[in-house]
Amino acid sequence: MAAEGVVIVTGANRGIGRALARDLAAAGWPIALVGRSLEKLEEARQDLADETSSRCYAADVADWEQVQGVVEAIQGDYASIHGLVNNAGITKDGLLVRMSPENWKAVLDVNLTGTFFLTRSVAPIMMRQRSGRIVNISSVVGLTGNAGQANYAASKAGIVAMTKSVARELGGRGVTCNCVAPGFIETDMTAELPEKVRADMLQRIPLKRLGQVEDLSGAVRFLLSQDAAWITGQTLVVDGGMVM
Ligand code: NAI
Repeated sequence: MAAEGVVIVTGANRGIGRALARDLAAAGWPIALVGRSLEKLEEARQDLADETSSRCYAADVADWEQVQGVVEAIQGDYASIHGLVNNAGITKDGLLVRMSPENWKAVLDVNLTGTFFLTRSVAPIMMRQRSGRIVNISSVVGLTGNAGQANYAASKAGIVAMTKSVARELGGRGVTCNCVAPGFIETDMTAELPEKVRADMLQRIPLKRLGQVEDLSGAVRFLLSQDAAWITGQTLVVDGGMVM
C-alpha cells in the first residue's frame, strides 16, 4: 500500500502516536514525527521500518509559531504531504466544581487548539495538491461525556465538530477529514487510573479486553488509504464495542 507523500503524526514519541508512526511506516509511508522532545522522537524513529525516509520535528502543538515552522520544514523536506494524524493530547482530570481555569485551558489548548493549528497549517498545502487525508484522534469520551473530564470531553467533542466542518470545507479539493475515537487503550495516559476504574471499564467492553495501542492502527491506516477515498466527516469508534 506504499503511498506518495509524508504522513505527519503528532505526539509520536510514545503511546498511541508512537505505535501509529511505526505501523504507518510499515505500510509504506515516510513519517514526520512531531513532538516536544527531539531526543524522544529520535528514539521512536529507530522503531520504524525504513527510518531513513522518516524525520523528527520538535514542536509544542499548542504553539502557533512552532507549528507553522515545523510544517514549513516538512514541506521543504518532502515533495508532498499525504496525511496528518492529530494525535497529541493530554488529560488534566478533575470534577467540574474543583477544576481550575488553568486545567480547563491547558487541555483545550493542546487537544483542540493544537489540532486546529496543525490542520490550519497543512490545509492550504493539501488544497493546492488537491489531495490529502486528515485523521483526528478524538475519544469515546467526546461522544458520551465522562464525570471528571469536562475539559477533556469538551476538547474531544470539539474535534468531532471541527472534523465535520473541515470535511465540508476541503472536500471539493479532494481532501478528507475524519476522526478515530478510541475507547480505553492501555498507555501511560491511562496507567494511573485506579484498578476499580479499569475493572469497571472492562465490564462494559463486549470484546472483554482493554485496548492496546496496535488496536488503532488498522482504522487510521484505512482512513489514510485509497480505500477510504469517499469517506469524510466521519468518526470511527474503536473501543471493543463499549459505546454503541
Ligand atoms: P500519551 O500521554 O501516552 O501520549 C500523548 C502524546 O502527546 C505524547 O507523545 C506527548 O508527548 C504528546 N503531547 C502532549 N502534549 C503535547 C504538546 N503540547 N505538543 C506536542 N506533543 C504533545 O497518551 P496516549 O494514550 O498515547 O494518547 C494519544 C491520543 O489518543 C491522545 O489524543 C488521547 O487523548 C487519545 N486517546 C487515548 C485514549 C487512551 O485510552 N489511551 C482513549 C481515547 C483517546
